[in-house]
Amino acid sequence: MADKTVDVIVIGSGIAGLMTAHLLADHLNVMIITKSNAETSNSSWAQGGMAAAIGPQDHWQKHLMDTIKAGQDHHNYNHVEILVKRAPEMVKKLIELGVPFDRKSDGSLLLGMEGAHQERRIVHVNGDKTGEAFTKALLNAVKDRITILDHTHVYELILNNGRVIGVKTNKEMIYATTVVLATGGLGQLYKHTSNVKEATGDGFALAYRAGAVLRDMEFIQFHPTLLADRGSDAFELISEAVRGEGAKLIDEKGNRLMEKHPAKELAPRDVVSREIHRALRSGRKIYLDCRDINHFSKRFPGLAGRCRALRINPKDVLLPVAPGAHFISGGVQTDTVGRTSVDGLFAVGEVACTGVHGANRLASNSLLEGMVFAEQMVTHILSHSQTTYAPNLLLVRMNENEDPSGDLPSKEEIQIQMTHLVGIERNNEGLQQMKKWLKPFVEKASSIYNSDNSDLVERKNMIVIASLITEAALFRTESRGGHYRTDNPERDDNKWMGRYLLISKKDGL
Ligand code: SIN
Repeated sequence: MADKTVDVIVIGSGIAGLMTAHLLADHLNVMIITKSNAETSNSSWAQGGMAAAIGPQDHWQKHLMDTIKAGQDHHNYNHVEILVKRAPEMVKKLIELGVPFDRKSDGSLLLGMEGAHQERRIVHVNGDKTGEAFTKALLNAVKDRITILDHTHVYELILNNGRVIGVKTNKEMIYATTVVLATGGLGQLYKHTSNVKEATGDGFALAYRAGAVLRDMEFIQFHPTLLADRGSDAFELISEAVRGEGAKLIDEKGNRLMEKHPAKELAPRDVVSREIHRALRSGRKIYLDCRDINHFSKRFPGLAGRCRALRINPKDVLLPVAPGAHFISGGVQTDTVGRTSVDGLFAVGEVACTGVHGANRLASNSLLEGMVFAEQMVTHILSHSQTTYAPNLLLVRMNENEDPSGDLPSKEEIQIQMTHLVGIERNNEGLQQMKKWLKPFVEKASSIYNSDNSDLVERKNMIVIASLITEAALFRTESRGGHYRTDNPERDDNKWMGRYLLISKKDGL
């Protein structure tokens, strides 16, 4: 098959990738490449909604303060300001795209409440189906204007003199002037996750192998409430918005788990997740009590439907919950316009680290980040765009050696080790143990080899990312947000305030 050339390749079809494609589509020849189908992404599963300071008492400065408090002062403050100031405009843009936000009877937008927000400011659609609605509206907007290659797995970025000039997929080489990583997160590195099965962190590994700088990889957010213990491994997200409407966390004796915290169930996610984790570890069971929520099925139709399928009625019974990997606050380091440290390579959405989440993302800031920074990036790409196609680079080929990575561990083995040793709580001993376990696999996983096996490529990527997270977690000898060290349980501003751990293939940590 002949190699293809386009202006911009966007890898990933979540909100950040779709918004990028939508804004570029009238100007450049854009192709989205996605590993399964275009509707499947963490974004499309997002329940809570999108934060925007639009309530009568609200202000972007309050949104900024909440973002910084939840993320424990580890932010790029300039980027946070861009994020929260653009939020109300983004809501308008989505309305123009046809997103049917939930409204009150007077026509004003209904605003939900979530953890660590001081105001009601979460816009949502059909209760808890916000991500699905955003995805649908954006897919509708791009469908006739771009090419979507589904069921196509990007194995490697193609480099020429240090510049990314295309991608190698499981099917063919495709060249482009600009490549945008919008591959989402890495929840599948852990045993329990709210993420789709495609979220094996491919983008982080692609960028790392291409020589890009990654940052803050130690900050993994565990969502407190995944529906647990239903006799299967499928742990599904119960939106924080459910606690926002009054659901309580209680143990089997009816004791309220978050009684002592001033914000109770709406404390920051890292705090709530750790409390649940500790309670479960000590043999208690933790439940979400939704029995007092009025109009439950109307407000949370998605969750109500899933409960019905499991034959449980949240109005009568308690929902067993456990925390699960949800989001990484770090990622491929990007500047204000989405540029990575590698020429020709941009990143946006969860795979990028813009520094807006600090050490722990505030609820409902992720869809917002994806769209606001897509806009920033597109403005830059359009004003710097090269109109000529990449030169004929048929000579650029991957290493044709036989791939020696067949004996890498299974996904389940990686998930068990990560959950056990680099999970909600870590310490030096466990992290050293993980490093030792990873060592024989890391070299095999780091080089570029031909492989026709998608599962093997994912496992290679998971090993690379597991080692980056482990290294960063070992290095940061304090606790902050999504990084909690039992051997260094306090935040240490003297040593660590404003210090970011950068990692790249060339320089190490
Ligand atoms: C949720 O609905 O609790 C998840 C939304 C988010 O992660 O911001």
